[in-house]
Amino acid sequence: MYYTDKVILITGASSGIGRELALLLAKEQAWLILAARRAQALEEVQQACLQYTPRCETLIMDVTDEVSVETGAKLALQFFGRIDVLVNNAGVTQRSLLIDTPVSAVRKLMEVNFFGPVMLTKALLPHFKTQQQGQVVVVSSMAGLMGYPWRSGYNAAKHALQGYFETLQTEQPIPNLYTTIVCPGRIHTPITYSAITATGEPFGHMDPGQAHGIPVEKCARRILTAMHKRKKLVMIARAERLLLWFKRFFPPLFYFIARKGVNLPPAGTGR
Ligand SMILES: NC(=O)c1ccc[n+]([C@@H]2O[C@H](COP(=O)([O-])OP(=O)(O)OC[C@H]3O[C@@H](n4cnc5c(N)ncnc54)[C@H](OP(=O)(O)O)[C@@H]3O)[C@@H](O)[C@H]2O)c1
Repeated sequence: MYYTDKVILITGASSGIGRELALLLAKEQAWLILAARRAQALEEVQQACLQYTPRCETLIMDVTDEVSVETGAKLALQFFGRIDVLVNNAGVTQRSLLIDTPVSAVRKLMEVNFFGPVMLTKALLPHFKTQQQGQVVVVSSMAGLMGYPWRSGYNAAKHALQGYFETLQTEQPIPNLYTTIVCPGRIHTPITYSAITATGEPFGHMDPGQAHGIPVEKCARRILTAMHKRKKLVMIARAERLLLWFKRFFPPLFYFIARKGVNLPPAGTGR
């Protein structure tokens, strides 16, 4: 199997897409390093992975904290002496209108979704250079390709990710470094529970979009296929693809449909 004995560091492995990727990669007997902030949730995923793979470590890391990322990268390298694949997956979304959202919340969204992957990738690039090879996977979003309502800071952070990692693809500083940007649409994960809102309180609900989203296992399988094929960009989405098509080829329709979303508050907001 392609990922057998490859060392793979996954951020945001305690839940959702990261957890599912870990389980699928464990079944391929990859050697895993599972990173996130919540130790207990990580240990549960680790135990599930150890049913299939002999090597699986956990790493407590907050991707918004530079020291945590630097220390985490060094620790990660010590576990197995190398890293073959970095999956930048940790992220947090948003459910609040732009006009209500304080700049502090936008900064927080940028810290987790943009600066986290940037810091960790920068910390590991020297290692990939020494190895003369490596793979970087970035879980962006369809929100990185268009500005949909209720997600201003999230959209901005994911757009920034696209620009940064597309530059890594075009500069190609290491000949055998492969970078895959993944753009999921709505996936059935608990992501909206922790979504940042205008008040600073987590959203605390499953958004209907996620409730009816693509099954997380299907999404993780598509990501693995894209990684295996070393795709530069992969979209894992349904209606969002059509919306993107309208944005490119018939912008008035994109704005008409997207603006309707302004008046469709996510469940649980009471507005
Ligand atoms: N679900 C969707 O519809 C969807 C759509 C497009 C893109 N995505 C992207 O897919 C990725 C995974 O999302 P998901 O749906 O699987 O969400 P999820 O189930 O909420 O998982 C998010 C993961 O990120 C970790 N995380 C959050 N903040 C962190 C921080 N400061 N430091 C380290 N880890 C942190 C969380 O772990 P801890 O809380 O334990 O730290 C958790 O493991 C994200 O980048 C998201 O933007 C998701």
